[in-house]
Amino acid sequence: MRIAIYPGTFDPVTNGHLDILKRATEFFDEVIVAVAVDSNKTTLFSLEERIQLLETAAEELSQVKIRGFEGLTVEFARQCGANAIIRGLRAMQDFEYEFQLALMNKKLAADIETIFLMTQSEFSFISSSSIKWAASLKGNISEFVPPHVERAIYKKYHRSIDD
Ligand code: COA
Repeated sequence: MRIAIYPGTFDPVTNGHLDILKRATEFFDEVIVAVAVDSNKTTLFSLEERIQLLETAAEELSQVKIRGFEGLTVEFARQCGANAIIRGLRAMQDFEYEFQLALMNKKLAADIETIFLMTQSEFSFISSSSIKWAASLKGNISEFVPPHVERAIYKKYHRSIDD
């Protein structure tokens, strides 16, 4: 059984993340989305909310499981029986950070490979932060996140999507 983890903060999940996730399922029997408890970021959504939003977004992907994790990503990969970490690359500015993270993870666990998938061009400029920022200013984010995520973001900043 080929198992990979796809770690991140997912605050919240975007169509860019979902594109990477769907494509990863073509190469692995099981992909475990690993939602980080502590990733150096102050999050808008709680861990439970981030997991719930991902579960709804991925409900049609039978090979996908969603799990929260604390501590080292490579340790979590081992606990899951995974030998690969999936990361999405959007643009050149991601490369330096991702390269550093991948090398550090390789030092910590030589048996686990990081596999990068290129984000589709229509999502290459989005991030969870820019989507939250736009929504906080009542910008239209419907192209970038599933409808239930759009509603959840709007609820955080405004009373509802129509406010
Ligand atoms: N489409 C759209 N946006 C994307 C994307 C895609 N395909 N891929 C990444 N992004 C965005 C995310 O939305 C996020 O945006 P934000 O910064 O505005 O929130 C940003 O790119 C990167 O976030 P994400 O992919 O969620 O990763 P992260 O850098 O927040 O998470 C962990 C990193 C969890 C993998 C890392 O902190 C970690 O491994 N932590 C555990 C401790 C550890 O093992 N550390 C390493 C050894 S020291």
